[in-house]
Amino acid sequence: MSKAKIAVIGAGLMGHGIAQVFAVAGHEVTVSDTVMKNLDNLTTRIAANLRDLGEDESAVARVRPCLDLGEAVRGVDYVVEAVFEDLALKQKLFAEIEAYVRPDTILASNTSVIPITSIMQNLKRRERALGTHWWNPPFLVPLVEVIETQWTSPEAIAWTMELHRAAGKQPAHVKKDVPGFIGNRLQHALWREAIALVEQGICDAETVDAVIKASFGRRLAVLGPLENADLVGTDLALAVHNVVLPAIDSRPSASPYLQKLVSDGKLGFKSGEGFRKWSPEQQATLRASLVAHLKASRDRENAP
Ligand SMILES: NC(=O)c1ccc[n+]([C@@H]2O[C@H](COP(=O)([O-])OP(=O)(O)OC[C@H]3O[C@@H](n4cnc5c(N)ncnc54)[C@H](O)[C@@H]3O)[C@@H](O)[C@H]2O)c1
Repeated sequence: MSKAKIAVIGAGLMGHGIAQVFAVAGHEVTVSDTVMKNLDNLTTRIAANLRDLGEDESAVARVRPCLDLGEAVRGVDYVVEAVFEDLALKQKLFAEIEAYVRPDTILASNTSVIPITSIMQNLKRRERALGTHWWNPPFLVPLVEVIETQWTSPEAIAWTMELHRAAGKQPAHVKKDVPGFIGNRLQHALWREAIALVEQGICDAETVDAVIKASFGRRLAVLGPLENADLVGTDLALAVHNVVLPAIDSRPSASPYLQKLVSDGKLGFKSGEGFRKWSPEQQATLRASLVAHLKASRDRENAP
């Protein structure tokens, strides 16, 4: 794919990593943020990531921080937004962006769960708007969900899929714009039941995680649930569902157990306690083991 001019809006956890991936792929990338400190740190943050990954740091030269939104997006081929998860903020931002860009500039949101239709509904040219849902850290997790709305043109989807494929990502086309898209619907169906098991006193939080990590979690990277159903037989899957589905949590709202953790200020790592207590050392160990695991998976995939 020929080199594009790309603007990333938001220089936070996701934005700086997305900018890094596109710069490494050879694209010129401007990055805009309203907080000067985040822009000041941007290139050193990306250089440090690249050093950690053992990759060439010269890609940093293709990343240009811009405080001014107009300067960041004028003349670009593609804009991806990664600001706070706030519908009104995203809507306002895209209205501003649309006033600066060409009619054919593709506009993407990296929202985690908000329907793209809600974010883009007020645009004048909705055929060039879509979602691209990346996973953290963007430079280590391969998937990017490319979300089509009722208005998105097939050309915009095809171009965006190819942009990400050529940058070494694994794009997945989401053909209907539903809350949570594919990945987060699946992930949070699991989290709902994980929380219910603790809430109902069936086991503690540590046991839920241990059970997953030592069983189907081991297989998930190579055996998806539908491959697994075919492997064991759809007749067995049906027999299992007839017994287990009536018993698992199907409440259409957040668990009261989760709501109480939040109202008690038990916010997880940031407060030292969530479902479990976390010392700074335990937090550092878990983070380090996650990064080591993701790097090892990437290295295995890249091995000749
Ligand atoms: N963190 C994750 O694991 C993850 C994964 C996938 C998607 N997302 C989504 O990506 C988006 C960003 O998440 P994050 O974790 O990077 O958040 P973050 O808080 O780390 O970064 C958000 C950045 O946006 C900037 N910002 C806010 N308003 C702005 C504006 N008007 N113009 C320019 N910059 C502005 C902030 O200063 C901040 O630097 C959210 O929609 C989130 O739901 C997050």
